Amino acid sequence: MEITTAEFLVSNTDFTKCPPEDRPEYAFIGRSNVGKSSLINMLCAKKGMAKTSSTPGKTQLINHFNINNQWYLVDLPGYGFAKVGKESRAKWDKMINDYIMFRKNLLSVFILIDIRLEPQQKDLDFIERMGENAIPFSLVFTKADKLARTKNEKSVKTFTAKMLENWDAMPPVFITSAEEKTGRDEVLNYIAETNKLYKK
Ligand code: GTP
Ligand code: MG
Repeated sequence: MEITTAEFLVSNTDFTKCPPEDRPEYAFIGRSNVGKSSLINMLCAKKGMAKTSSTPGKTQLINHFNINNQWYLVDLPGYGFAKVGKESRAKWDKMINDYIMFRKNLLSVFILIDIRLEPQQKDLDFIERMGENAIPFSLVFTKADKLARTKNEKSVKTFTAKMLENWDAMPPVFITSAEEKTGRDEVLNYIAETNKLYKK
């Protein structure tokens, strides 16, 4: 799929105030600093459209991006970011949770996993919740440029084995690097295919 136009639309704290639920939507979620905003910029080939930072906690709102005037990408704050303090943390978690649970046009959630790390409990817990609530998702491993290819494969294998302790099958899995633009076609093709299933 070609991205012809990509533009920031609006930020919200409350899913009820997000744009009308009239087209396919995809959200990017994962721990703070995993590379959600960078991946969105890479997919859209638009540096700086979603705000990125080497300091965790950059994205603090539900951010909608209008793609090709046909579908939305959504950049979310990271989960499990301790530094913001308990009260803000709880507010973020509720904001993310309500959005994911109740947003009607959300076709699929991309859960981002840092390929360099051993399986993290916070990620596994989040994935578990997606299962409990029957929310479609895929896994996107990020920062593949930071490891050698064989190490990337090993990391995905380890994560897969861990997930299959609780799951019968794996969701779609993508290996990406925002830095080297790896995985762009695969993710965009998946979105194009999923868009076809959308019924108003
Ligand atoms: P929050 O909004 O704080 O939750 O973070 P985020 O998940 O949006 O991460 P962000 O895209 O801001 O990236 C965090 C840091 O990781 C930045 O310094 C990025 O440059 C770096 N980064 C993101 N993706 C990649 C990648 O594929 N490769 C490399 N080498 N660095 C990356
Ligand atoms: Mg971000």
